[in-house]
Amino acid sequence: MTAASLVARCVHGLEPTVAAEILRRGLGTITHIGHREVHFRASRSPALDVRTADDVFLLAAQGPDVGASRTGAAALAGLAGAADLAALTRLRRDHGGPGALTGVEVSASFLGRRNFTRYDVEDAVGHALAARLGVGYHSRRGGAAPPPGHSGWRVTLDGERATLLLRIAARPLHRRAYKRRSVPGTLHPPLAAAMVAMAGVEPGDTVLDPCCGAGTLLIEAARQQPRARLHGFDLSRRAVTAARENAAGLPVAVARADAGRLPVPDGVADRVLANPPWGGQVTPGGLLAASAGRWWAEVRRVLAPGGTAVVLLPGVGELPLGIRHGLTPVHLQRVRVAGAESFLVRWTAPR
Ligand SMILES: C[S@@+](CC[C@H](N)C(=O)[O-])C[C@H]1O[C@@H](n2cnc3c(N)ncnc32)[C@H](O)[C@@H]1O
Repeated sequence: MTAASLVARCVHGLEPTVAAEILRRGLGTITHIGHREVHFRASRSPALDVRTADDVFLLAAQGPDVGASRTGAAALAGLAGAADLAALTRLRRDHGGPGALTGVEVSASFLGRRNFTRYDVEDAVGHALAARLGVGYHSRRGGAAPPPGHSGWRVTLDGERATLLLRIAARPLHRRAYKRRSVPGTLHPPLAAAMVAMAGVEPGDTVLDPCCGAGTLLIEAARQQPRARLHGFDLSRRAVTAARENAAGLPVAVARADAGRLPVPDGVADRVLANPPWGGQVTPGGLLAASAGRWWAEVRRVLAPGGTAVVLLPGVGELPLGIRHGLTPVHLQRVRVAGAESFLVRWTAPR
């Protein structure tokens, strides 16, 4: 197999996490880290299963960014002309993707203001690719989802470079097959995977999610560390049902409980993972409705001496509350998911 140039796309803020996962798991060597993307040279195939990435693509072609002018979008059709379609087809198959390049669909994004729209870019590149391949092109301009079986292409403009990418898998990697049930405020799975990696879950660790929703954090933890003991709680019956269904077949126990009074002894948890119900999408219920301090007091109580909590917070304003409850923030990482800023915070409990 020829070593392929791959690009992992991710949530903004997780670029170093994705690069670290690629290196730790021996998936490849890093060649470039940019805005929401990590370029790497695959050292084995398939190099697809990067848990902290939204998706993994083959690098199809690159050129200079076309700038802001109206005519820039049309010029990007040149990227389609530069791609080696036969080599891409072979490499995609080698990495576990579908065998043939059937219909074409394109998704574009750019940094900075432009005098063209993403649809102008998508249509210019999509028509050129479809003409070269002799297949149909589905435009996203009308809002309709692409028909199944179309190959997913992506164009990015970062101010310096224009890049054309070809998705390897038939569907985006962040759409996990386990997520059959969802709840409001449910976590983006690659972000949950990044939180698990940040917590450093060890074999035999007891891991608690006090507000587990659909179970995303615990399921990602089971994938990364199958020998951990995983327990989730939520006040909502719907969430408990969703988490149990999503985690079917995995060693994850889920029960209905109030995160302000968890049914577990003091110091039982080596790790706590959570995105608590702050920030608007979900309102805190039960004992948390009156006081967020109650949540921090419970996290402090259940954590073992020297234990670690990784918590997703909507802002840094809540850090003093965690500190007042005896926890020490030791790492802070800003991430941007679907346009909203949040903070991943790793805390330790005193020994
Ligand atoms: C942001 S969601 C968590 C999403 C979850 N991490 C996922 O990926 O699906 C917050 C959760 O807190 C739960 N919640 C609200 N108040 C609670 C309480 N007092 N005790 C336990 N869970 C509570 C909500 O039912 C909701 O499922």
